[in-house]
Amino acid sequence: MQKIVIKYPAVRKKICDKIYGHFSEHIGGVVYGGLYVGADSDIPNDNGFRTDIMELLRKIDIPVLRWPGGCFAEHYNWRDGIGDKANRPVTVNFWYANDGKLETNQVGTHEFAEYCEKIGAEPYFAANCTESTVLEVRNWVEYCTFDRQTTLTKLRAANGREKPFRINFWGLGNECWGDGGKMTGDYYANLYKNYAESVRRIKKDSYLVACGPSDNDTAWTESFFRQAFASYQAPQISAFGMHYYSIGGGDCLNFNEEEWYRLIFNSQKIETYILEHRAIMDRYDPDRKIDLVVDEWGNWHPVGSGPSKGANLFEQQNTLRDAVVAASTLNIFNNRCDVIKMANLAQVCNNLHSLFLTAGEKLIVTPTYYVFEMMKYHQNAELLSVEKDSAKIGINDVEKIEKLNISASERDGYTLVSVVNTSYRESETVEFELSGKVFDGVVTEKCLTGKPNAYNDRDKAIVKPIETSLNVDNGILSVDLPAASVTTLRFKTK
Ligand code: AHR
Repeated sequence: MQKIVIKYPAVRKKICDKIYGHFSEHIGGVVYGGLYVGADSDIPNDNGFRTDIMELLRKIDIPVLRWPGGCFAEHYNWRDGIGDKANRPVTVNFWYANDGKLETNQVGTHEFAEYCEKIGAEPYFAANCTESTVLEVRNWVEYCTFDRQTTLTKLRAANGREKPFRINFWGLGNECWGDGGKMTGDYYANLYKNYAESVRRIKKDSYLVACGPSDNDTAWTESFFRQAFASYQAPQISAFGMHYYSIGGGDCLNFNEEEWYRLIFNSQKIETYILEHRAIMDRYDPDRKIDLVVDEWGNWHPVGSGPSKGANLFEQQNTLRDAVVAASTLNIFNNRCDVIKMANLAQVCNNLHSLFLTAGEKLIVTPTYYVFEMMKYHQNAELLSVEKDSAKIGINDVEKIEKLNISASERDGYTLVSVVNTSYRESETVEFELSGKVFDGVVTEKCLTGKPNAYNDRDKAIVKPIETSLNVDNGILSVDLPAASVTTLRFKTK
C-alpha cells in the first residue's frame, strides 16, 4: 500500500498549455490520407479535412500544431502551396526515396492555417532555412501575418484571406545538425541571426524557435549558445527546440517484459536531457528569457506495424505501452513546467507515436489519444506538489524506473491528478490524502489499462478509459491502480 499526499496551495508554477501540442508533417500518411482526404472524398470532410479527426482534436483542446515538418520543412517552398489548387505544382517530397510519394501541395498555407482556426489550435510554422533564403522566409511571414497593403498581402487577399493569419510561432530550421543542413552549432547560430532579425522586422512579436540538438548533444547546444551570445548582443531567440525519440523497446506489438521496461526507462531520460540543456542555457540566459521546448518527442519503433503495413512511412501501431510512455512523459513535463514551455508529440496521424491511424474511412483512435483527453485539464493549470515514496522497479540495477509516476495540478477549483503504474504485472493500491485542503464531493476516476501490448484496430476498440465515481472515506481516497495503467482523478476541494 502506497500513500500519496497532494499539497496545497499550488507551488506558483503554471503548466503551459502548449506542452500538450502536436506535430503534423508532410510525410507518409500524416497529412494526405490522414488529416486530409480531399473535398471530393466520401469520407465526411471540411474543406478536405476529415471531420471526425477535427472533432476529436477539439475535444482534447489541442493547443498548438506544428507544420509542415520536420525534415520536410527544410525542402518546402511555401509558394507551391498557395493559389488555385488546380494549378499547384506537384513536387518531389524530400521523403520520396523512402515511400515514393510526391507532394501535391493541396494542403498549403491557407488550408493549414484555417484548419488550425477551426480546431482551435495555434499554428506553429517551421520555415525552410536549408534550401530557402532569408528573404523567402521573411516573405512567407509577410504573406501570412503582415497587416499593411503590400504586393504579398494583396496576393494573400486575392487567394481568399483579407485579414492576416494569426501565426505567432515560427521555427527557423529543423534538425540543422542533421538533414536540415549538417551544421555545427556555431555555424547555425550565425545563420539563425540573419533569419531571426529579418523575420522580426516584419513581425516584431513573433515567437521564434531556434533549432536545438538531438537527444543529449550538449556540445552542439553549448556551441550554439556560445556563438549566439558572442556574435551580437541580444539574440532574437524566443525558444530553443530540442528533439528526443525513445527507442530500444523491441517490436511495436510483440515486445517482452524486458523491452517494456527498457522503453520506459529510455523515454524518461528526457528529464535529465532537458535539465542538462536548461543548465547550459542558464549560463547564457540566467533570467530565462529564452524558453526550452521539445518540438518533437515520442516512441520510435521499427516500422510496418500500422494498418498500411509499411506503405505510410514511419507508421506504427500504438499500444498501451505507448500510452504509458506518453502519460509518464507528460507527467515529467508538468513537473518540470518551469523549464519546458512547449512540446509536440510526433506525429498526430498514421506515423510515429500517433493519436490516430486511418484505414480508408475507418478511424482508429489510439490509446495515446486517450491520454491527451484524460490529462487535458493540466493545460494552463497551477502545479501542485506531491509527496510520495514510490518503489523503483526494472529489469536490472541500472535501468530502474519509479513504479508510480505522478503529477497534480489545480485549475478552476478542480484538482487533476495523473498517475501511471509502470509495472508490467503488479497492481498497486494507493491512499491519496490532501494537505492544506480537503476533498469536496466525489472523485471522477478515469483509468486506461489492459494487456501491455493491447491496441485498437479497424475491427476492435478495446483500449479506452473507464470512468468511475469514487467516494472519499474519512479524508482518504483509496484507489486501485492496475498494472500497466494510466489513471486520472479529478475532484473539487475546499
Ligand atoms: O518525425 C519524423 C522525423 O523525425 C522528422 O521529420 C524529423 O525532424 C525527425 O528526424
